[in-house]
Amino acid sequence: MIRIAIILGSTRPNRNGAQVADWVSSVAATRTDADFELIDLRDHQLPHLDEPLSPLLGRYQNAHTQAWARTIAGFDGFVFVTAEYNHGLPGSLKDAIDYLGAEWANKAAGIVSYGVAGGTGAAFQLRQICGQLGIADVSQQLPLNLRFEFENYSVFKPTAAHAVGLNTLLDQLIAWSTALAPLRAASSVSSEASSEVTSEVTSEVTSEGSSEGSSEGSSEGSAERVVEPAGR
Ligand SMILES: Cc1cc2nc3c(=O)[nH]c(=O)nc-3n(C[C@H](O)[C@H](O)[C@H](O)COP(=O)(O)O)c2cc1C
Repeated sequence: MIRIAIILGSTRPNRNGAQVADWVSSVAATRTDADFELIDLRDHQLPHLDEPLSPLLGRYQNAHTQAWARTIAGFDGFVFVTAEYNHGLPGSLKDAIDYLGAEWANKAAGIVSYGVAGGTGAAFQLRQICGQLGIADVSQQLPLNLRFEFENYSVFKPTAAHAVGLNTLLDQLIAWSTALAPLRAASSVSSEASSEVTSEVTSEVTSEGSSEGSSEGSSEGSAERVVEPAGR
């Protein structure tokens, strides 16, 4: 069965996002063609990106990154529930995405956004990011307007029409997550094949990068040129 994570990107106290993500989960729960799980970034406590190596290498050193990688690797597709902050996506969601590489690739995503103008600025940014990571973002989008679809900008009032729109998004998401399964299988095989090379390059990078700031940038850059992980 296809597994879809509903990722709640806002970690703010008093956030509206939890109502939206709970609603997405409740609509998703009526379906039998995929398994859905709500992933709340608050539960993962990721600091600002603190990995010494590029996620392109897949050599995560911190326990919180390894746990996050295991979580994301277990899914075939994602619904990003995103707020809009200053016409962009929340930093918490951007950081959580930036932590990983191959765990996102060859999977599909749908975007549910909300904001004063439906969160479309955040959604467009997210689509650019998806392109870079090899995530196939489906066309159906759910922009929820805080003025018209939330009472007093704070109580989400979903209608039957919203559920129809969301189900269309989930139809597309499940179809693409399923269609990409052979690519995911092929890339995990080639990941294994290249892991030896990757590990050699990484140890070279680590030994070159003796002090934090000075040599890290150039050695990491050369590693990325030498090894392009599968599925990107
Ligand atoms: C720092 C900040 C910046 C915001 N910038 C925008 C914006 O550019 N466009 C918009 O439509 N709403 C903006 N808003 C309003 C948010 O869309 C609204 O507060 C929403 O509830 C945020 O999601 P959250 O409550 O789940 O964190 C902003 C809110 C915050 C806190």
